[in-house]
Amino acid sequence: MVNEATEMVIRNLTQTEPTPFYLYDLKKIRERIQLVQMRLSSDFEVFYAAKANSHKKILETMKTENLSVDVASMGELNRALAAGFSVDKISFTGPGKRTDELIKAAELGIGGIVVESEAELIELDGVAGRLGKRVAVVVRLSPMQRVGHIGRLIVDEPTQFGFDESSFESLVMCLSKTRNLDLIGTHSHVQSQILHPEYVVKNFEFALEASLLFQTKLKTFGKFKPAKDKFRIALGGGIGIPYSAKSEAFDFDRFAVGLRQLTARYGGAGPLGVPMRFAMELGRYLVGESGYFVSKILREKTVHSRGRRLKFAIADGGYSHCQIACGVGQPIRTNLPFSLLKSDKGRWGGGSEIVSIAGPTCYTQDILVREASLEGIRAGDWLVVENVGAYGKQFSPTTFLLQPEAAEYFVGEE
Ligand SMILES: Cc1ncc(COP(=O)(O)O)c(C=O)c1O
Repeated sequence: MVNEATEMVIRNLTQTEPTPFYLYDLKKIRERIQLVQMRLSSDFEVFYAAKANSHKKILETMKTENLSVDVASMGELNRALAAGFSVDKISFTGPGKRTDELIKAAELGIGGIVVESEAELIELDGVAGRLGKRVAVVVRLSPMQRVGHIGRLIVDEPTQFGFDESSFESLVMCLSKTRNLDLIGTHSHVQSQILHPEYVVKNFEFALEASLLFQTKLKTFGKFKPAKDKFRIALGGGIGIPYSAKSEAFDFDRFAVGLRQLTARYGGAGPLGVPMRFAMELGRYLVGESGYFVSKILREKTVHSRGRRLKFAIADGGYSHCQIACGVGQPIRTNLPFSLLKSDKGRWGGGSEIVSIAGPTCYTQDILVREASLEGIRAGDWLVVENVGAYGKQFSPTTFLLQPEAAEYFVGEE
């Protein structure tokens, strides 16, 4: 449930601004970053995955808090530069980078281009050669297995991402033919939205083992010269946030203990004889819980059908503005935590009436809240869906039915 200070900000905004809109709390984001930085060793590099939310103010916050940033398109790269990130703090990931994106990243000399296929490696080598530059590359490795959301071990089908273990030798051969690339590390990202610290640590172990295997193959091949005094192992992300009022928050302290044990076990110089420097890439954990999506209830109606009585409230924002609230991208569709602010200044206090809150479009998935017990919901009340600071607006094409765009507001600026 939103706290009183946030409620006041939202109520004030609704007096002057049209709904739907997003509100982000930058203070909460800063506090989350500081928690992460305090619990990890200072040698651990933290990247913000800009895909989670690439709003300029959010990127500026990440920059001010001294994080690195991972981008996945020219658009995100330009935003990161505009937010003031120095090029050495930027990495660029994605299986389908266009040639103009490779050229720009190479020209700028960004901190690491994460290569995902042999064809990309060869193309990038050519780009670097034509520019007369050496280009720093990281290879993306796909471990053979991962732990899923509920702790089950999953052996993956092949994916479009990176190199799986069966292709490491071929990758090493391909790397050895390049002339203009400096290999500075490996990168993996296997699973998102995990709420159990031990599962994330286990996935990091899989990523680390894949990196060690790759480094061993590189060493065996014998031609590798370390490009830097440290070899970066980016272990990925995966930390989840509560997408249901019943979920528990991720216990970062427990995670940090497990991570320390893991890196102590494997740390030091790797098979290449170069000290390994660890990194991780976080998106939703840094910004997700700081975002609110606010829409207004336009109308209500009660449907009597097949022996059931169900009330629908229709809001002015939904699927086109906040897909994640409608279940898109969630492993299991749940109602996100939400609050109902009543127009008469009261707050929703539960109740026995079963109500679904739908968005305004003619799409059956446009349901923000499915069958919750809500008493007395009325046109003019405001629905506040919580924990949508990541993959909220960015993930929601207003091109669908040409709905008006949701504006974005901020509190907690310094
Ligand atoms: C390569 C990579 N890194 C990091 C992330 C961030 O994931 P999350 O926002 O779940 O932390 C993603 C998400 O898809 C990703 O693809």
